[in-house]
Amino acid sequence: MKDYVERVLISKEEIAEAVKRLGKQITEDYKDKNLFLICVLKGGFVFMADLIREIDLEFQMDFIAVSSYGASTKSSGVVRLIKDIDVPINDKHVIIVEDIVDTGLTLKYLKELFETRNPLSVKICSIFDKPSRRVTEIVPEYSGLTIPNEYVIGYGLDCGGLYRNLPDLCVLNEEYHKK
Ligand code: PRP
Repeated sequence: MKDYVERVLISKEEIAEAVKRLGKQITEDYKDKNLFLICVLKGGFVFMADLIREIDLEFQMDFIAVSSYGASTKSSGVVRLIKDIDVPINDKHVIIVEDIVDTGLTLKYLKELFETRNPLSVKICSIFDKPSRRVTEIVPEYSGLTIPNEYVIGYGLDCGGLYRNLPDLCVLNEEYHKK
C-alpha cells in the first residue's frame, strides 16, 4: 500500500456496485423524460464517467466547474462558478452529479442556481455522502455510499490536487493532511 494511504475505506468493487444501482434507479425513474446530467468538476468526473455507462437511456450531459472562495471562506457557502453550462434547461430534468456531499453548501448553492433557470426538476446524485458534516438541509435524492467523517481520497477525491486516480476510496494518512 502507498504510504499516503492509511487504509481502504470502500473498495472499487463496492463502489462499482453502488454505481450500478444508481444507474439502474435513474434509468427507471427517467424513462420518457428529457434527462440532463450536470457533472461538478473536478471531483465528480470519475463517478460521472462510470455512472453514464450504467444509465440505459438517451440523454445529454455537460460539466460545470466551481471553486469555493479559498479555504477560510468555504464555510460561507459562497461558490464561484468558473465554467457554466451553455444550454437552457427550462425543458430538462436535471441531475447534478457529485463525488461527495459534505457540508452541503456547494450543492445548496448549485441547486438554487439551477432552480432560477426553471428546469422541469433538479435532483442530486452523489456517490459518497458524509451526513455527519452537514450544515444545510441538502439530501441527495440518489446517494451511493454513506461514509464516516474521515479525510478520504481516491475515486475523484483529492488532497492538494493529488490522488484522484486511486480506484478505491481510501483514508489519507494523517501525516499527509493539509496543514
Ligand atoms: C468537493 C466536492 C464537492 C464539495 C462538497 O469539491 O467535489 O463539490 O467539495 O463539499 P460541501 O458539501 O462541504 O460543499 P472541492 O471543493 O474539493 O473541489 P474539487 O472537486 O475540484 O476537488
